[in-house]
Amino acid sequence: MDQKLENKTAIVTGASGGQGAAEARLLAKSGARVILADIQDELGEAVAQSIRDDGGDALYKHLDVSELSNWQHVVQGIADEFGALHILVNNAGIALRTGRIANTSLEDWNRVMAVNLTGPFLGIQTAAPLIRDSGGGAIVNTGSIAGMTGHFATAYSTSKWGIRGITKSAAMELQSWGIRVNTIAPGLVITPLVEGSDDFIDALGDQTPMQRGAQPEEIAAVVLFLVSDDASYITGQDISVDGGFLDFGGYNRVINQVMAQPDQKV
Ligand SMILES: NC(=O)c1ccc[n+]([C@@H]2O[C@H](COP(=O)([O-])OP(=O)(O)OC[C@H]3O[C@@H](n4cnc5c(N)ncnc54)[C@H](O)[C@@H]3O)[C@@H](O)[C@H]2O)c1
Repeated sequence: MDQKLENKTAIVTGASGGQGAAEARLLAKSGARVILADIQDELGEAVAQSIRDDGGDALYKHLDVSELSNWQHVVQGIADEFGALHILVNNAGIALRTGRIANTSLEDWNRVMAVNLTGPFLGIQTAAPLIRDSGGGAIVNTGSIAGMTGHFATAYSTSKWGIRGITKSAAMELQSWGIRVNTIAPGLVITPLVEGSDDFIDALGDQTPMQRGAQPEEIAAVVLFLVSDDASYITGQDISVDGGFLDFGGYNRVINQVMAQPDQKV
């Protein structure tokens, strides 16, 4: 077992499934005590149990990231029980692909902002003082390629653009507390979030130079890097993990189309 995070305590939100579960598993495998936080309690308890069965140190806590009182309760519990916190992974998110602005209800807009943007804000506000008092650490916020470009789900995209703002502001503010803050911006990841959207998965996979979506473990590996001392000089950054989608997805398609012609000229 790689003990890169030995003696570190971490919270991973949205850890009952998808990327959060993979991140919790990998952080625990790397020696951290991991608090898995989510609203799907049964699933979260089961993931925590499976980590313990594999020899890891994990426990599950109910935490709705949009509720300040939930954050206060969980962070105070960690302070009382373990006396320290070093890592916060703000991973919980909802997509609610409501599509066009005209079709997005105010209720949906507010819910997406509450979970995807207010959640990480409350998490940073509540957890950062304990991370400071524990000797410093690292925070990773979960953005998306939808927060790097225009997108068809306006509320989701706007919340993910906002993540980059809070990351950069928090990185600046918290560096004097010894806390690094970065954004991870996944492309397509095969998780329950995109379940049932087969056409979307096919189209996005096709547009991605690597021609596939990521597995959650491929995102978790980058989160581990960012929260470990290997990333000790990286803060305030947006790190895309997207199979090349953003930087050359468009041109990759163009070049493939041109090269497919018999008398191709580039
Ligand atoms: N799957 C993708 O293609 C993709 C791409 C880019 C970014 N992301 C982002 O990655 C993160 C993880 O997504 P995923 O693909 O693993 O999705 P997922 O749906 O598999 O997992 C999200 C988890 O968040 C939890 N959650 C939802 N609302 C919550 C709340 N109010 N409080 C606490 N937990 C809550 C869910 O119960 C679930 O366990 C999200 O922020 C998502 O926006 C996903």
